Amino acid sequence: MCGIVAYIGNKQAYPVLIKGLKRLEYRGYDSAGVAILNGDMRVYKRKGKVKDLETYAKDKVTRGSVGMGHTRWATHGKPNHINAHPHVSGNERLSLIHNGIIENYATLKEALIKLGHEFESDTDTEVLVHLIEEVQKREQLPIEEAVRVALTKVVGAYAIVVIDKEEPSKLVAARKASPLVIGIGDNEFILASDATPIVEYTQRVVYLNDEEIAVVNKSGDLQIKTIDDKIQTPFIEELDLNIERLEKGDYEFFMLKEINEQVKTIADCMRGRINAAEGWVNVGGVTEYYERIANAKRFIVAACGTSWHAGLIGEYLFEELARISVEVEYASELRYRNPIINEDDVIIALSQSGETADTLAALELAKDKNALIYGIVNAVGSSIARTTHSGSYIHAGPEIGVASTKAFTGQVTLLTLMAIHLGYKRGTIPRSYYLQLLNSLENIPSQVQEILDKNDQIQYIASEIKDATNALYLGRGYNFPIALEGALKLKEISYIHAEGYPAAEMKHGPIALIDENMPVIVIATNHSAYEKIVSNVQEVKARKGKVISIVTEGDKAIKEISDYCIEIPDTDEPLTPLLSVIPLQLLSYHIAIMRGCNVDQPRNLAKSVTVE
Ligand code: M6R
Repeated sequence: MCGIVAYIGNKQAYPVLIKGLKRLEYRGYDSAGVAILNGDMRVYKRKGKVKDLETYAKDKVTRGSVGMGHTRWATHGKPNHINAHPHVSGNERLSLIHNGIIENYATLKEALIKLGHEFESDTDTEVLVHLIEEVQKREQLPIEEAVRVALTKVVGAYAIVVIDKEEPSKLVAARKASPLVIGIGDNEFILASDATPIVEYTQRVVYLNDEEIAVVNKSGDLQIKTIDDKIQTPFIEELDLNIERLEKGDYEFFMLKEINEQVKTIADCMRGRINAAEGWVNVGGVTEYYERIANAKRFIVAACGTSWHAGLIGEYLFEELARISVEVEYASELRYRNPIINEDDVIIALSQSGETADTLAALELAKDKNALIYGIVNAVGSSIARTTHSGSYIHAGPEIGVASTKAFTGQVTLLTLMAIHLGYKRGTIPRSYYLQLLNSLENIPSQVQEILDKNDQIQYIASEIKDATNALYLGRGYNFPIALEGALKLKEISYIHAEGYPAAEMKHGPIALIDENMPVIVIATNHSAYEKIVSNVQEVKARKGKVISIVTEGDKAIKEISDYCIEIPDTDEPLTPLLSVIPLQLLSYHIAIMRGCNVDQPRNLAKSVTVE
């Protein structure tokens, strides 16, 4: 949540900052602001999106080769100009941008008010810049030392950048539990919440670690220290990020681009990990810790949102194919229970961004209990990826639309590969079925394309149900998590209230909601419990519900009683989610577009939830 970017070097900072903020806007889009240093420090802030800031700053002075920018997802204080970052110290010497939450801000604020500080905003961040000002004034320290000492008094999460007008040739940055990447160019540095604003200037980056402070200056020096004052040697890494993947190309929205990319991203996730012709599957992270993983007493999946839905599919996969017992936990609940986690458990963290605060905290808790931590992550170099013992990247490329699509299918692909790998090696699936699954898995990308080719039909169905105020999604077995995911996709981008249920549970409550105005989306492919779900659809029809079914090609029984029916290609049951989710993604997308919603930046949401 919140995106931060800063520049120091020989270029004009403002265009670099604006471009960077647009790349980071997926992290929050309530308000945006910049501070530019050029003798004076000029701060421009606006409620709304980066383009509103751009319009506002159009006729203002933006010259200067040192600056920083922020795009906000409000935590403390409403989204307005005053609460927007950067925040400025009382003496107007310092300005600061922040991603995270200062938990003890109220106590600090009270103490600072007693010392005569006056506050303008309702934010926790403003307290931080006043605290640094106070330390700097009292102890007469250079800015980096003032920041370091001030941070020893702070409880919470932060990635910050600070500019000091009196020390104009440096930027100071620090992090704890919120990400910060430092791009190293030729006598220039670009600092940002992720690598996307950096990649077009340099491939060389340093990922700042927790409780580290960095000072970069115009002569090209980078120094890193810990908050307890130990000098660190920067570890420079090369980025592997293709700039084209950060652009919308011919698509109007990232979400549609990302839905269509799934043909490729699922194949990319499997690349080098499976070969059906040669009869092998190999997930590197599993091989590396095979004994511990294969002999685990239990897998505990920790995740949030869509990643949690992928985890539920993992439960079906691991239990059926590898006969390993699985528990799927909301990370936010797991971290605050006193969970029983043992050394022979494996914790699987699923996260697109690799930065979700609750997931990260749950992992750290499990690590303290000596469990093996396995990450399934999309964002390379992210905090979760760096916290785990082992893991696998899903290689979906940057996912920018707030609604997760290609990351979900990447996570499910990876879980499927792991389950087949473990099932075969543990002898819980016969070779013939193993080979069949490998073949079927290799066919998935082309089958996804077949579904994407039904876009016009799905768009038509969307036009028929777009005015609904509620929707119900039903599925059984592997398609139950897909019902949950379909409902989440619809509600988060179109603001239609939607619920996902196991089809049989409908009779225990939700059936009371069904009438002629209620679209009921039933995912009913031709596998186990098919006959049962036919009966569930009959029950919906008997109450005049409008049935939209997702069925396997050639289906008769459900097609006959549905109002609208989308056929998907046949595959083995454990692989069905990879196909059945695609029409639901498209359906939500079209409904949201028809309702005039901004699908890439739905209200109140942010892509990367780095606060709890
Ligand atoms: O980056 P993560 O996968 O950890 O994010 C988890 C959720 O915040 C995320 O899946 C969210 O639910 C999406 N908006 C769903 O589309």
